[in-house]
Amino acid sequence: MMSEQNLAADVIRRSGVPACVNHPRLLEWIRAMVELCEPTRLYWCDGSKEEYDRLCNEMIEGGSMIRLNEAKRPNSFLVRSDPADVARMEDRTFVCTVDPEDAGPNNNWVAPAEMKATLGGLFKGCMRGRTMYVIPFSMGPLGSHIAHIGIELSDSPYVAVSMRLMTRMGEKVYDVLGTDGEFVPCMHSVGMPLEAGQADIAWPSNREHKYIVHYPATKEIWSFGSGYGGNALLGKKCFALRIASIMAKEQGWLAEHMLILGITAPTGEKSYVAAAFPSACGKTNLAMLIPPKAMDDWKVTTVGEDIAWIKPGRDGRLYAINPEAGYFGVAPGTGPDTNPTALAMLDADTIFTNVALTADGDVWWEGMTPTPPKELIDWQGKPWSPASGRAAAHPNSRFTVSAERCATLDPEWDNPDGVPISAFVFGGRRNDTVPLVVEGFNWTYGVYMAATMGSETTAAATGAVGVVRRDPFAMLPFCGYHFGDYFNHWLRIGHSIVHAPKIFCVNWFQRDANGGFMWPGFGENMRVLKWIVQRSQGKVGASETALGWIPQFEDMDFRGMPEVTRERFGQLTRIDPKSWQRELDSHAELFEQLKARLPRELVLRRELFKLDLSRQAA
Ligand code: GTP
Ligand code: SPV
Ligand code: MN
Repeated sequence: MMSEQNLAADVIRRSGVPACVNHPRLLEWIRAMVELCEPTRLYWCDGSKEEYDRLCNEMIEGGSMIRLNEAKRPNSFLVRSDPADVARMEDRTFVCTVDPEDAGPNNNWVAPAEMKATLGGLFKGCMRGRTMYVIPFSMGPLGSHIAHIGIELSDSPYVAVSMRLMTRMGEKVYDVLGTDGEFVPCMHSVGMPLEAGQADIAWPSNREHKYIVHYPATKEIWSFGSGYGGNALLGKKCFALRIASIMAKEQGWLAEHMLILGITAPTGEKSYVAAAFPSACGKTNLAMLIPPKAMDDWKVTTVGEDIAWIKPGRDGRLYAINPEAGYFGVAPGTGPDTNPTALAMLDADTIFTNVALTADGDVWWEGMTPTPPKELIDWQGKPWSPASGRAAAHPNSRFTVSAERCATLDPEWDNPDGVPISAFVFGGRRNDTVPLVVEGFNWTYGVYMAATMGSETTAAATGAVGVVRRDPFAMLPFCGYHFGDYFNHWLRIGHSIVHAPKIFCVNWFQRDANGGFMWPGFGENMRVLKWIVQRSQGKVGASETALGWIPQFEDMDFRGMPEVTRERFGQLTRIDPKSWQRELDSHAELFEQLKARLPRELVLRRELFKLDLSRQAA
């Protein structure tokens, strides 16, 4: 019998360590992880197209991936996950700080030593019979002063190919890393070793144990048991949001759940806006917005659609990069009217997960066409017809595609210095209470509104859907530390820069008495964006309310939109004092949970809102 050390050394020797890897700490980490997980093979991803094609072909041969019709959707694939592994699992996500207060009530906490013991047991031998893929990636343009590097070790080839679409993945990363550069170690296993002779299944995962774990002190990520999305593509939520939010607090920048878009006015003047919405609440749609016909003298371009890293620049402005290089977007609801840019982007070179398959080898999901095909294979591989009475695509089915395929991609999207931000927008999914748009009187007001934002839960995470919860800054599942400290960090950043962006709140989701949306949304959101941009330039009016500045009918561009009458607009922007008193009560509940570290400015701000509202009601 060879010892574990000798077995690991043998696996590493056979893998052929690339000549460009000259980083002793990295090599030692990989050696230790091979020894722990006992993979049969070690494979170093180089990030090439040839490698991507080969890994996809291997998955097709192994039965875990389906090639779509080459004529209809070239170089595109369908993957079906385990029905018990379809979304992020917030209740299995942990932040393991030494002091539980540092993780805050907004995170699940376990003591680091205890979690390490649990994970040590689970990871022991977890890759037997499998290949461990070494996935080097940069979050942000390679070498950018805003970017950071990660190395993911995963036993999932689906993760390896997805990371090539989602990040700057490949050997060039080792050049930036050099011999002693910093990297975030990202350990991932689907948690299903193949013992001698055991056949693999299409979507291996661990039905019993799932853990998505972050260690802030050492900036490490350990994920076990799931192969889906944010649970497994560790550059995304685990690194670019949870770990990065901690790095950002320590280093004076921001890591946010925000899209970044460029807006070009008819005058040619260009502004950038960063906007935070909770999962499955319209970031991808807004980032790729096509203005309505009557406003086609305005243009929207896409920098990012899920995550923004934002750093103060020397000129006193905030500069943002999209740390990602691809999109892992919600498929259902992506249609010719809602998001034609995304639909066209998915014409080729895309991996689809948990959507339906058509008879001719193409994909379909709810909202792609007004009438569904007569027959389909649903996301679970079962025959489906419109009479089946269930969704053909899972509500959290997704596409994975390179940003390069986006027709509205902003020319500055890859700029290592980022783009200057003129306005922040925060939006929840609210049936009522929250108006179409409101502008905070100043930075503190804006931070208050973002901190107390509420939104209905969606299918992006497991658990109940459609329940209103407080989702501060759309970061509830993603802030890696105590929300009180996070609010403080935001207040401090805004007060430390000369040109702080204005902060706005929006709500596209108000419903009328019949349950229909009161605001048409999608491309028509351009009307609101225009007002936001012009407000940030001091070019348009507004009226003062207890909550902040709200546009008057005359301040909005409603050309070609007769359905929005003055009366309708009044309803959309109404602030109902009774509903807002209730809203403020629920802010108080949030504040009570966070009180140990809540900035006093926010407590005070709430008291003042209460006064202003009661005055308005009187
Ligand atoms: P994650 O990728 O999960 O972070 O979410 P995202 O915010 O990028 O989600 P996405 O843009 O894909 O949101 C999809 C959902 O939002 C679908 O249900 C859309 O129908 C809905 N949606 C997007 N924009 C609008 C809008 O303007 N109005 C309404 N009513 N729904 C919208
Ligand atoms: C989200 O849930 O906000 C996502 C999808 O963007 S996932 O990467 O699965 O977290
Ligand atoms: Mn997201």
